[in-house]
Amino acid sequence: MKTPAFSFIISLLALATPFSSSAQTTPGSKPISPDLFGIFFEDINYAADGGLYAELVQNRSFEYTPSDHGGWDPLTSWEYLHEGFAMGRVSVESVAPLHANNPHYVELRIENPFQKGLGLKNVGFDGIPVKAGEKYDFSLWARVKSGAAVPLLVQLRDAKGAVLAETTLPVPAADWQQYRATLVPSATAPDASLVVLATGKGVIDLDMVSLFPQKTFHNRPNGLRSDLAQTIADLKPKFVRFPGGCLTHGDGLENLYDWKNTVGPVEQRVAQRNIWDYHQTAGLGYFEYFQFCEDIGAKPLPVVAAGVSCQNSGGSWRIGSIGQQAIPMSEMAAYAQDVLDLVEWANGPVTSPWGAKRAAAGHPASFNLEYVGIGNEDKMTPEFRSRFTLIYNAVHAKYPNMKIVGTVGPGPKGEDYDLGWALASQLNVPLVDEHYYEKPKWFLSNNQRYDRYDRAKSKVYLGEYASQGNTLYNAIAEAAYMTSLERNGDVVSLASYAPLLAKEGHTQWNPDLIYFTNTTVVPTVNYYVQQLFGQNQGTEYVSDVVTMTTGAATDTTMAASCVRDATTGDVILKLVNAGSTAQPFKVNLSRFKGLNSAATRTTLAGDKEAKNTFASPQTVLPKTTAYKAAKNFTYTAEPYSLTVIRVRGRR
Ligand code: AHR
Repeated sequence: MKTPAFSFIISLLALATPFSSSAQTTPGSKPISPDLFGIFFEDINYAADGGLYAELVQNRSFEYTPSDHGGWDPLTSWEYLHEGFAMGRVSVESVAPLHANNPHYVELRIENPFQKGLGLKNVGFDGIPVKAGEKYDFSLWARVKSGAAVPLLVQLRDAKGAVLAETTLPVPAADWQQYRATLVPSATAPDASLVVLATGKGVIDLDMVSLFPQKTFHNRPNGLRSDLAQTIADLKPKFVRFPGGCLTHGDGLENLYDWKNTVGPVEQRVAQRNIWDYHQTAGLGYFEYFQFCEDIGAKPLPVVAAGVSCQNSGGSWRIGSIGQQAIPMSEMAAYAQDVLDLVEWANGPVTSPWGAKRAAAGHPASFNLEYVGIGNEDKMTPEFRSRFTLIYNAVHAKYPNMKIVGTVGPGPKGEDYDLGWALASQLNVPLVDEHYYEKPKWFLSNNQRYDRYDRAKSKVYLGEYASQGNTLYNAIAEAAYMTSLERNGDVVSLASYAPLLAKEGHTQWNPDLIYFTNTTVVPTVNYYVQQLFGQNQGTEYVSDVVTMTTGAATDTTMAASCVRDATTGDVILKLVNAGSTAQPFKVNLSRFKGLNSAATRTTLAGDKEAKNTFASPQTVLPKTTAYKAAKNFTYTAEPYSLTVIRVRGRR
């Protein structure tokens, strides 16, 4: 983009001339990806269990182990209660489980319950947050092995032990069965606990002790926390990449993420260690991911491991590792079949074996899967290359229109980047997944990165990027870079910031886009940049609409883009000033036909170091006002600001 100097500044609201109208192809425009800005969801920082997944009971199926996290065991987050003079004992058993995939359960042996009974208390993930008058769905699986019946008293208690809600469940002598009840707390508490007490003599087994708010996102059973899900939905992402990240290729072959273990009845799913040092219940599994995508109007982008584990498997970067592990080639055909089955599960007719399973889960219609990722930042070893090629060829042969995303290492350059690109070119992989976490300065000085990319090669999915901080300056550097993604939306097809979510006190990676506790959600300044770009995506990029006094060459403290959304006809300008002084942007809209001068202007601006925090969650927020856009105008952008001007158009 050329950068002639313009010194005049006009009043923001001075010009209000209506434009003439007609719907035509815009001179100087090129089509760009309609899916450009999306999100990357990984269960890191308690993003899923204890986060987006609305289950309130921690370790509901007694499957925690020390390998999930040092010191954890099947009774972590549970307390044994024997109230009054109740006598008996609790033990963790695995002799005759509810399902082989869910091997542990608790046995309560009640010698004498006296008046109050004995049982267990769950303290949730940092407490169980409940609201007065709201409904909570309690359920558990139980089996009475001895005694005619063992009644259960179920309570919600506040931190001082006061009962907020209670119900009784008569559990007859019977094999495993699920029991349900609704609890309505009488008071709001951020840190309640769930109590299950056996009040009759006998022996009873318990498993899958669960509590969900009835109000989940879109009221889905086994659903998502509505405030967090809505915050994500408000980004207006065009796609969702999941389930990782490192979580996908896992810590050793035993820890690869296997999508088949995450679908079907929740009590039959396979929980496993989370590479980020905690536990995955798989309650938020592939069905829930796909359903969430549908609920927010985003395309699903599942990523499968490329037949190898993370190259850092077996330890940390510091203490050394056993490195990348590869599935034996003799087992790779079966592994590739699992990937083909995923496509059939998502898209196949209900008469197909896997389409039937999707239908049985409540979704007979296709999920319209268009994208599949293979691999994540993998080391480009011969083992990786052969396995990636095998999976790629299998998927491409059966589903030639599937947009397969390959991987090119963990950084913006280097050996894995070069080898990954070479492999992608050799195989004609439709897209490759680039990742980089760099300083703001890097984002400003690499604004031309994709201008130089060969349009004949694979397209780019910028699957993970962030500028290593949550200040306004970080966010503005990212905004400047995002204008370059729009400018290069013909070669960059998809882009997503990373990581998305982080729970206070359980964060393995900083910075993140959205911070939360059990009761609060704090979108960062970076979030609002993503939101402004997400809510203002276009289908064509129009060059030379904005000219600037500085920027472009090497250190882009000024950056701008202009896109047009063909569905509305709106023209959208993004003007970024990453410098410490106000700067003029000269805008020429004269080539657009049918624009209305009525526009909206949204600005994100403030102190360079400003952040949104739990103590001050609204330090920097976007502000929207009406704006009158002339055919030609100069806009003076505040220091450290992103301005989005949306001019109403016609289709
Ligand atoms: O986004 C956090 C991690 O960063 C991802 O799991 C991984 O792909 C990358 O190294």
